Amino acid sequence: MNALTLSGSIRKGSYNRLLQRDVSERLRRRGVAVTELDLADYPLPVFSEDIEVEGMPDAAVELGRLFVAADIVFIASPEYNAGLTPLLVNTLDWVSRQKGRPFRHAVFGLGGVSSGKLSTVVGLSHLRDMLTKVMALTAAIDIRVGPGEEAFDTQGQLIDETAITRAELLADELIRLAAK
Ligand SMILES: Cc1cc2nc3c(=O)[nH]c(=O)nc-3n(C[C@H](O)[C@H](O)[C@H](O)COP(=O)(O)O)c2cc1C
Repeated sequence: MNALTLSGSIRKGSYNRLLQRDVSERLRRRGVAVTELDLADYPLPVFSEDIEVEGMPDAAVELGRLFVAADIVFIASPEYNAGLTPLLVNTLDWVSRQKGRPFRHAVFGLGGVSSGKLSTVVGLSHLRDMLTKVMALTAAIDIRVGPGEEAFDTQGQLIDETAITRAELLADELIRLAAK
């Protein structure tokens, strides 16, 4: 079984990157081969059908290939203005245009860290809705963490007990669903 994990933030010190790393480790401990993507390595222009006609960017083709090959995809998504980050929306729009139905293969797990106590509850709802509309299977349990500065220790380890419990449940659920 193999998994792809990504973060909707490429900010230095991103809390969502820390959550991505945490879930990646939990999946590895369960025997899953995990590819931890850094979206900074896949620079893409803001999506336009004109660019698509001129020629599909290599990064979009490679991301599409990775999504098609994955049994599990975990997305750590910040919340921007009660929605998603432009980076994540742009990435998913490019992926949606790739061959092989990139959202139809894996089971998707969602999580997010924000600076507020309400965490990413609204943003993750948008993300789940969008993924459902493109026929992706999403695990019902998600991981909502906030405020980010209280949830991780100085080494970047997740220390929020509720988040840890949910991350454990999600890792188990992703493997259970992917095995079906
Ligand atoms: C443009 C922008 C909009 C934001 N909007 C929200 C929001 O709607 N809700 C929220 O909880 N946090 C919001 N935040 C704060 C982010 O949750 C916080 O910056 C978080 O740490 C971003 O994730 P990262 O640490 O992975 O980069 C916003 C931040 C930015 C830059």
